[in-house]
Amino acid sequence: MDCGLPTSPSSSRFGAFSGDRSGGAAFHVDGVGFAYDGAHPVFRSLALSARPGEFVALLGPSGCGKTTLLNLLSGFLPPDSGRITIDGETVTPEMLALGYVFQSPQLFPWLDVLDNVRFGLRMAGRLPDADQRDKAMAALALVGLEAAAGKFPHQLSGGMQQRVALARALVLEPRLLLMDEPFAALDAITRATLNEELLRLCGQLGQTVLFITHDVEEAVFLADRVVLLGIAPAGIHSELTIDLPRPRRLRETRRLQRFTTLTDTLLERISAIVAAA
Ligand SMILES: Nc1ncnc2c1ncn2[C@@H]1O[C@H](COP(=O)(O)OP(=O)(O)OP(=O)(O)O)[C@@H](O)[C@H]1O
Ligand SMILES: [Mg+2]
Repeated sequence: MDCGLPTSPSSSRFGAFSGDRSGGAAFHVDGVGFAYDGAHPVFRSLALSARPGEFVALLGPSGCGKTTLLNLLSGFLPPDSGRITIDGETVTPEMLALGYVFQSPQLFPWLDVLDNVRFGLRMAGRLPDADQRDKAMAALALVGLEAAAGKFPHQLSGGMQQRVALARALVLEPRLLLMDEPFAALDAITRATLNEELLRLCGQLGQTVLFITHDVEEAVFLADRVVLLGIAPAGIHSELTIDLPRPRRLRETRRLQRFTTLTDTLLERISAIVAAA
């Protein structure tokens, strides 16, 4: 995705993300079937792909399998049938190409912000301490939180905590970012700000994103393509290309007639899915 936004001064200052980033990964979900033990299948033969750098939003009624799909894509759940690949390789939980952001930030309360962000680098143990610190600071700069490096999670607002969670995922320079309703618990203003920030970061870093949300407007504002899941085990109901211009700013984009047309189309489709259930 080319967001066409300028590189922020904070990221170029540290430079830790400018030289060695490798852009986005392609993923392919091919004929995937999955059921939790002893339960009805969630998917029978699911197929979904994304091209490198694409921003895909996933919408669908509660229980249709959005989080399950994310867990399959991350390798935490093995499919019963079919295959899932990232850049051609069968997915495993250890894949370094993956980053996650969940609905709640899930920070370690006993670690300060810098150490929360640095945690994954420490576990990987591939970088000297000073480099880990520089990279963690660069990730915090990307989300505008350098000044909070020494604070503890309880000293931060919900929006700041979610930014730290985003920095913690970005510090590993994932080529595929999996986000499960990451801003759902935030107030509307913080959410709008984080949506714009996320687009700026994606424009800068170029990773592929799979973003789950229940909010149709959020999906349309962010995505290149919206994928709508039907009631399990139906899998994909339909897809919609979001042909809105980039860079996007919430206030301007929302005013476009095309934005309204796209959100209305999706709302009608969701109503049809729920009515048929
Ligand atoms: N660990 C589990 N064990 C058994 N069944 C599960 C488990 N997790 C989810 N399910 C079931 O699998 C189906 C899909 O669940 P999933 O969490 O993927 O839905 P979702 O689309 O993310 O829903 P929501 O929008 O409410 O988050 C549901 O019927 C759910 O009850
Ligand atoms: Mg879910």
